Amino acid sequence: MNGEFFSKKEASISVFDRGFLFSDAVYEVSAVIGGKLVDWQEHFGRLKRSLDHLDLVNNFQEKDFYQIQKKLIKENQLKEGLCYVQVTRGVAERDFSFAKKSLSPTVVIFTQEKLILNNPNSKLGIKIITVPDDRWLRRDIKTTQLLAQSLAKTHAIQKGADDSLLVQGGFINEGSSSNAFIIKDERIITPSLSNDILGGITRSSVIKFCQINNIEIKEQKINIDDLMEAQEVFLTSSTGFVLPVIEIDGKNVGNGLVGDMVKEIQQIYLEQIKAKLS
Ligand code: PDD
Repeated sequence: MNGEFFSKKEASISVFDRGFLFSDAVYEVSAVIGGKLVDWQEHFGRLKRSLDHLDLVNNFQEKDFYQIQKKLIKENQLKEGLCYVQVTRGVAERDFSFAKKSLSPTVVIFTQEKLILNNPNSKLGIKIITVPDDRWLRRDIKTTQLLAQSLAKTHAIQKGADDSLLVQGGFINEGSSSNAFIIKDERIITPSLSNDILGGITRSSVIKFCQINNIEIKEQKINIDDLMEAQEVFLTSSTGFVLPVIEIDGKNVGNGLVGDMVKEIQQIYLEQIKAKLS
């Protein structure tokens, strides 16, 4: 926290932190494999972008974030899981406006163990449901306002599925914490970047890796009919990598088994990210 190391029990923040009171905070989640960060540079780039969008100025430099993350992974002996970074605007008497305040941002970084490479969902696929996208309109900024996503995922689990896909005006946006892709007529399609979705780091890696491997991929709007008629569907995220979807709203995707193209993309993704560990 703020450059100091605490045990899990000792780390605490003020109840007046604007991250707690207003979700006035941004965050990043990077996967850790073999004790190394995946796509650290890209995650730091997006963190900077999110901070800039909210005019949230903090004292930590790029090298500070990197060194603290690396030290934490080492101290916690984390082999596989994730590293979480959050920057809030800081502590102040509760007031909607922060215009006249000079605040000192809170920076919190922690690690979490998680099965990433051998996540059973990567092999078996997941079931999803579609739900309305109830979020604010700047979903391209990675803020900690995650209540809509949290409710959407909980709702899916209560209905016997694994996750929710957020839908707006008949078009799909993204998963509760992932980007969405469909495969139709051998073509991979993912919604184009806009304020409606988060520009996922895994999403852009998958697009790049497909292009390198001459696999056609398009960024365009996807309506519900295209989704329901897709041969294969998958979700991408830093901690899930490439997750096949085998059922949507109770209907099988294709024949209800993990498809061949998604398996190929999983393999390509795993091979390529080995070169992007730090
Ligand atoms: N979430 N869209 C949303 C709404 C997300 O929350 C995430 C990631 C993604 C995928 O982005 P990336 O590939 O950069 O992880 C897309 C992280 C994993 C989380 O909140 O835990």
